Amino acid sequence: MSVAPPEQRIWWNEPIEKVELTWIVVAFLWGMFMFFFMIAWHFIGQQNLNNEAYRIAPSAYETKVEQFVQKTKVREEKGVPVVRPAPGSDVYLLGRLWQWWPILELEQGQSYRFHISSLDWQHGFSLQPININLSVHPGYEHVITLQPTQAGQFGIVCNEFCGIGHHTMTGKVYVVQKKAEGGQLRLAQEVKQ
Ligand code: CUA
Repeated sequence: MSVAPPEQRIWWNEPIEKVELTWIVVAFLWGMFMFFFMIAWHFIGQQNLNNEAYRIAPSAYETKVEQFVQKTKVREEKGVPVVRPAPGSDVYLLGRLWQWWPILELEQGQSYRFHISSLDWQHGFSLQPININLSVHPGYEHVITLQPTQAGQFGIVCNEFCGIGHHTMTGKVYVVQKKAEGGQLRLAQEVKQ
């Protein structure tokens, strides 16, 4: 097939085909529907979060997280602190090249105020295998009310390309169950995929 010039030299002045116009209208209306339906997904979807965001200097956020870790640390895993904050309290997580820090241990069924920010570049918080995703920006502290519904071990990966160590930027969240008697926490079994 050869490429021939259009029959009419001034082709853009031709009246639009009815079928083409129909499809333009259909695509436009669908686009508008999807746009406004984003609001609905906040209510009926389980993965769109209603979050708050506050301006904060990265160094100030780092200080907050360090103080939080000092207060709530229960052990270490390969040099990374594991924190067990009190149910209902504020929980802090930071993203930086190339790490999610610290490791969180939360209690199933309890509600937390979950804070997250970046110290350097933009990172993508992605909780696996649940598939909850958040863009994490330096200079903004995002706050989400979070209630773990499922016990187990969850992974955090970075889903926003952030340089040569991007693929190594992982983190961990444990969700533990409260024992019926004794009130002690125990590590739950791994989540079945
Ligand atoms: Cu952080 Cu990719």
